[in-house]
Order: sequence, then structure tokens, then C-alpha cells
Amino acid sequence: MIPTIGLTESHASPEADKSVLEIWGRSTLKGHVRISGAKNSALAIMAGALLCPEDCRLRNVPSLADVASMSQILLALGLKLEKNGDILDIDARNIRQSQAPYELVSQLRASFFVIGPMLARLGVAKVPLPGGCAIGARPVDLHVRGLQAMGADVQIEHGIVHAYVSGSNPRLKGANIYLDYPSVGATETLMMAATLADGETIIENAAQEPEVADLANFCQAMGARIRGAGTNTIIIDGMKRLHSVDYNIIPDRIEAGTFLVAGAITHSELSVSPIVPDHLTAVISKLRAIGAKVITESPNCLRIIGAESHIATDIETLPYPGFPTDMQAQFMALLTLSDGDSVITETVFENRLRHVAELNRMGADIRVKGNHAIVRGVPMLSGAPVVATDLRASAALVLAGLAAEGKTTIKALQHLDRGYENLVAKLQNVGARLQRLEGEGETESPSTSLNPANVA
Ligand code: UD1
Repeated sequence: MIPTIGLTESHASPEADKSVLEIWGRSTLKGHVRISGAKNSALAIMAGALLCPEDCRLRNVPSLADVASMSQILLALGLKLEKNGDILDIDARNIRQSQAPYELVSQLRASFFVIGPMLARLGVAKVPLPGGCAIGARPVDLHVRGLQAMGADVQIEHGIVHAYVSGSNPRLKGANIYLDYPSVGATETLMMAATLADGETIIENAAQEPEVADLANFCQAMGARIRGAGTNTIIIDGMKRLHSVDYNIIPDRIEAGTFLVAGAITHSELSVSPIVPDHLTAVISKLRAIGAKVITESPNCLRIIGAESHIATDIETLPYPGFPTDMQAQFMALLTLSDGDSVITETVFENRLRHVAELNRMGADIRVKGNHAIVRGVPMLSGAPVVATDLRASAALVLAGLAAEGKTTIKALQHLDRGYENLVAKLQNVGARLQRLEGEGETESPSTSLNPANVA
């Protein structure tokens, strides 16, 4: 039996976060970066642990603010959790609460995904409408309609989604569900719900992201019957009960992609592992298109060799296997310094171009027209004080700072903490000059105050 404990990760509220990141750019990077477990897999799989009436052991769980938030939600529902390094033990024998707390759900959109497994296991779930990154409206209509197709009654009152299955034996029923859009979250919610439903569920136009396949593998390791995850049609045969599991989460393709861009934008050579190269096909293809070399060193390791100068390319974000929206901002930073004009089209989320204004403060030449950003390459960026607006925008500013002349100071690091484990240390290890100051501060000059070897 796992004891109930408080998790050690702190999760500073956005308002309280006064820390800043200072970066002195133009260093050449060299070496190897170890890639952590995938944030988006970990969050979905933690929600999936609600399906399991026994112990779950998750390995390769990254230490991130989002993981801490999801842990807090599971604790609030009455689960027992214990995290040691990258191992997270979850005991979901007793779910004592059917209502997820608003303060926590509002901080993390992925926490809405608990609605599927809770409903499947308890026949009732009350989950506030979610929050998360400020990158668009991000509705949950596809989740709700899918659950209704499986026999759930769903009402939304006072900002809370109240779903329940009526009858003396409250069990969801298998259904044929066509998603109007291949939403990652809706596919995950419905796939989890279907594992314990009565009969067969078919999800068509399902999301094909590797994290969906990872969640399916996790559910299968608990005894669920799922076929087709990773394709656009997923078929789930509902079971009465799932069992305990010991599961290893896949590497984070977005973290890996971010470090590959770090190698390119600094004209450096970096290797990243462990990774699954197939998960990065679109990213690798664009890196090669702009002139960077990407070499497969081994089945789970890639090396990037940045070119002296890169050339412009157009990018359109799409559901997997298309180019990931979660890499759009980082590539925009890279293309600001490439020769020629690039057009970046964001099709997945509205309002996900807010980093443009901050990149322009650093000397980039980017114009926005609707969901297009026209990036005219400039010879140089210059360090500036900038504010991170969301998770991947923060990563883009870090990358721009690594390439810029002089000092860049990034505020609002709570976004970065949501999705990058040990980012500062990982960059320092490969020679970047940067430091995090807890509480706003000003460092005079890199030569006196910043020796990469002794910055914590
Ligand atoms: C997940 C990822 C996020 C990534 C995104 C797209 C997690 C925790 N987060 O987010 O990092 O950027 O996939 O790859 O896995 N939509 C609806 N109705 C719905 C659900 C979604 O209209 O019911 C829309 C959204 O507003 C958005 C688009 O579909 O415009 C894609 O959203 P979705 O795939 O659901 O993203 P998330 O699961 O929220």
C-alpha cells in the first residue's frame, strides 16, 4: 500500500513568480542532452491511472509544474501518490471524490482529461471547464459529445461539467464516435472511457499523436483491449476491470525538437537521446530543409549540426504526423535568422502567435496576418527584456536569447516550468551561458558574474 504523501515539487502561482532567466547569447554549444519523459504522455497516463483499481508504477515521469498540478488533482480526488526521482507510484484503489477542484483544473487543461476515466470507473464525474496555456478558446465540446454518445448525461452548470451515467448499473456503453477534428485530448478522454465501457467503441478521425499511442499502450498494459492507436481509427473493446501496471513513458519529442533547434540556431553540434526518431519526422524534415544536418547516430539518438547560415522555409502546423504546433514558436525563432522570407501558418490553435511581438523586440522582422506569420530573415537578433506568454513561446525566447547578441532577460518563467525539466542545467551542460535568478534581479556583466561552470 502506498502511503499518502505531499509531493515535493513546488508549483509557484503565476502571480508569485518573480524569477527571471538571463541569457548571454552567441555561445557555441557542444555535447549531449538527455531527453526527459514526455509531458503530454505523463499527464494523460496519470489521468489514465484512475482506471486502475490497483497500484500503478510510472517510470520516466518528468519533474514539471504540470505534473505537480496533475498530482495535486489526483490527490484531491483521494488517490495516493509517491514520487521518487522519475518514478511515480499511484494507488487509485479508492477514489473518494467525484469532483475535481476548480483552482487546480483551471491551471491545467490536461486535467480535464480525468473526466473520461472517472466517469468510466465511478459512473459520475464533475470537472470544471479547464484552463491551461492562453493559446486560444480550447473548448471541450468533442470530449462532451463523445461521452454523450457513450450514454452519459452531461450538463454544464456554473462552469462545471457534470457527467453521469444513470441506472442501477452505471456503465458507459460502447459507441461509434466520429470526431469532427482529431483532438488529442478528446481522443484520449474517450479512449480511456471506452476501456471500461460495455461493448465496442470505435473512434474515427482520432488523433494519431505518439502520446495517444503511449496512453493506449499504458491501458493495454493494464489489460485494456485497444487496436489502431496511432492511426485515425481506434477500436476499444470494453473490459469490466483493469489491473496493476509498471509502465515506462516515451521520451518527449517536443523537448527533443527544442534542443535540435537550439543546436541549429547557435550553429552548433548537439546530440539528443533517448528519443524516437519517427516521432520527429516533420521536425527533422524542416531542419534539413533549412540546411541543418540531422544524423541518426543510433536508433534512439539524433545529432544536429547547424549550418553557418540557414535558409527560409514555409511551415504549416497540423495534427500529427504533420508539423507540431508545439514546435511552431521555436522554429519561428530559428527562421528569424535564416536567409529569406518564411511563412508560418498556425492551423491548430488560434492566438498562438503571441511570441511574435517579443521576438520583434529582439530585432526580428515578423508580420502577422490572421493565422500567418511572415518572417523576414535578419542577420542578427539583439538581447532584450522579454516576457514569456505561454509554454512554447517561452522556449522560443530562450532559443532566440541563445542566438542573440548581448543579454536577454525572460520574465514569467512559470510557463517554462510547466514543460521543460531542468532546462537551465541542460543548456549549461552543453556550454550555454544563462542563469535563473529567483526574484527579479539584475546581473551586470557575464564576464564578472557568470561563469557557466559555477552557475547552479
Ligand atoms: C494537446 C497537447 C498540446 C498540443 C495539442 C495539439 C496535451 C496535454 N496537450 O492539447 O500540447 O499543442 O494537443 O497537438 O496533450 N478542440 C475543440 N473541441 C474540443 C477539443 C479541441 O474545438 O473538444 C480544438 C482546440 O480548441 C484546438 C484543436 O482542437 O483548436 C486542437 O486541440 P487538441 O488536439 O484537443 O489539443 P489538447 O488536447 O488540448
